[in-house]
Amino acid sequence: MAVPPPFCPRCLISVAGQEACSSCGLTFETCGGLVDTIGTDDRGKKAGEVEDFYSVNPFPGYAAGDTRGTLLDRSRRAHFLTSLDEAIPTDAHVLECGCGTAQLSAFLACAAQDRTVIGVDGCRVSLEHADQFRQRAGIDNLQLVRGDLFKLPVEEQTYQVVISRGVVHHTPDPDEATRQVARRVAPGGVLVLGFYETWGRMVHRARRGLTRVRKEPIRALDPILRKRDLDEEKKRIWIEDQYRHPLEHILPMPHVLRVLESEGFVWLRSIPPAATDGGMFNMTPKPGALGRTLLRSGWMARGLTDPDAGLISLVARRL
Ligand SMILES: C[S@@+](CC[C@H](N)C(=O)[O-])C[C@H]1O[C@@H](n2cnc3c(N)ncnc32)[C@H](O)[C@@H]1O
Repeated sequence: MAVPPPFCPRCLISVAGQEACSSCGLTFETCGGLVDTIGTDDRGKKAGEVEDFYSVNPFPGYAAGDTRGTLLDRSRRAHFLTSLDEAIPTDAHVLECGCGTAQLSAFLACAAQDRTVIGVDGCRVSLEHADQFRQRAGIDNLQLVRGDLFKLPVEEQTYQVVISRGVVHHTPDPDEATRQVARRVAPGGVLVLGFYETWGRMVHRARRGLTRVRKEPIRALDPILRKRDLDEEKKRIWIEDQYRHPLEHILPMPHVLRVLESEGFVWLRSIPPAATDGGMFNMTPKPGALGRTLLRSGWMARGLTDPDAGLISLVARRL
């Protein structure tokens, strides 16, 4: 399959064979289809450690023999992904911040040929995995970009949909990371922000506490490690990501919501509960104090069976 030419994440014009965009002047290195805006820059100690961690444990990783067809089939069996796909217009410009190996970005691009999807991540190795898949599957409406969340190489307020799942809590300053991601959403656009929520993550924190004593997780207590049909390499990466990560915060949902509101966003919903009828971007009533307590208690209660280990998504719209 021919390598689709790389395009500039700001101007969306081809930058094949160039080291700077002829329109906006953004400088980068290209490698295969990757646009690398970090290069050899010093990213600071913590960001360096996180990149080293994901270089050895690229997340979520592809199964051997994955193709466009298997990705589409698998993604369409995941309720979150189908509702997200249904909610995003088929010609939207979508930005994923912290895409890792970019399954979600690749799915959204494959599911609608007229969408333009940009996946940004700080980890070069994860993006190389993503780009190998992108080339194999011939996905030419997805651009993979190496960039840092705190210096995102895209303009503010330009994307109709911005997604960031499982990322801001792995940065030294989750509030600022949240603001940076949120600022890329265009007026009227939607942000889907997934983060480890304090109450939602409580059961997993206890599970992880036990690991400190035993050194190995108790597989029977973890819904992912209990799976019989998941290969061992994926389980190894899960153990590293969930039990041995070098930088993890937990964030209270009301606080994250306040940060988003201060950036001009309004509440649409949280997930869970699952969005139904293509309505992931429909507004639901914003919970008051009691509603928030009930919601968060529910997240805590599902801890032992939650395959996302307390990863909660807030969906919010910029006014
Ligand atoms: C747990 S993975 C999540 C990947 C993907 N969003 C998913 O849900 O499968 C976290 C990702 O965040 C990226 N990341 C962490 N800090 C970052 C930063 N400061 N800038 C860019 N990416 C970052 C990591 O490289 C890693 O790929």
